[in-house]
Amino acid sequence: MHTLKIPPRTGNMKLILGIESSCDETGIALYHVERGLLAHTLHSQIALHNEYGGVVPELASRDHVRYVLPLIRSALEKAGCTLKDIDAIAYTQGPGLSGALLVGASVACALAYALDVPAIGVHHLEGHLLSPLLSKPAPQFPFVALLVSGGHTQLMRVDGVGRYTLLGESVDDAAGEAFDKSAKLLGLDYPGGALLSKLAQDGTPGRFKLPRPMLHSGDLDFSFSGLKTAVLLAVQQNQNDEQTRADIAHAAEEAIVDVLVHKAVAALKQTGLEQLVVAGGVGANRLLRTRLSELVGKRGGKVFYPDLEFCTDNGAMIAFAGAMRLQLQPEQRDYRFNVKPRWDLQQLNYAD
Ligand code: KG4
Ligand code: ZN
Repeated sequence: MHTLKIPPRTGNMKLILGIESSCDETGIALYHVERGLLAHTLHSQIALHNEYGGVVPELASRDHVRYVLPLIRSALEKAGCTLKDIDAIAYTQGPGLSGALLVGASVACALAYALDVPAIGVHHLEGHLLSPLLSKPAPQFPFVALLVSGGHTQLMRVDGVGRYTLLGESVDDAAGEAFDKSAKLLGLDYPGGALLSKLAQDGTPGRFKLPRPMLHSGDLDFSFSGLKTAVLLAVQQNQNDEQTRADIAHAAEEAIVDVLVHKAVAALKQTGLEQLVVAGGVGANRLLRTRLSELVGKRGGKVFYPDLEFCTDNGAMIAFAGAMRLQLQPEQRDYRFNVKPRWDLQQLNYAD
């Protein structure tokens, strides 16, 4: 049984505790508005879900319960802070798995109530969108953001904190899902994005040509569901040797990256903006980074990436987004929480 002893509180609105628990990572961070990120801790459940080939929601919730308080305690230790130094608590309110979200939300709201500080429900994708601002050099508003995670593929125009416009999105699978499903068909462990990318390095360029749906659709939407069928056919119709698997992985990575790069550059053209921010787990992909930097660079633009540790789910982006929100919105002492497993980022605009 983990317990936290609640001390009396002093101080003002500077130090934000962030709690991320929307899927299969428990992420905790302490962000200070003047001193930056003081500490962050993370527990990944990849090994736990691996044998099932995907995230098992109930196991995810239980594992968040197991880790959330010890991780808060170790983040406080790393930062040299105590509970009484915390001025506000930000938690992921959605989108995500409801049970997993409830763990972070209930801990955040109970702790905030006990400490008499505000609790701020953060949109997970806003966390990803703003995460490049944690790295140096940071982009300036306005910019275009390419959000590429396991659950989402979106192009957003970001005019400022809380001012987001959707430019285009996937009509079916997310880019991360396309990576993971292709990886699964190639016999790789879950989540297979990074593993597929590694296998692709040994692939023969051009042996397989996979479809790039909606590449020339004229809008900024994406479609990736056809790709897994094409990968399935390639797997079934060819010998299952190591070289063939690498060749298919190579073609799959090329197809996904090609579409993402094409649409991201089109979004820059359409908006007339020059800065592109790439956020979400797929943003860790090397080929995507190289291609985007080359092409956007040629146009005189610049691409910004969060540091690799902040690409995938983490508490730092939630603490940071919470800190930004606190500066714009009046603080609230409402500790009733309702998580939002489905939550459109467009509905979030709060700075108009
Ligand atoms: O943002 P994230 O950590 O979690 C979600 O909110 O979904 O993204 C996870 C996704 C997974 O689909 C994973 O396979 C993918 O990001 N990913 C990658 C790479 N690293 C993580 N995909 C391609 N290449 C990578 N290097
Ligand atoms: Zn995420």
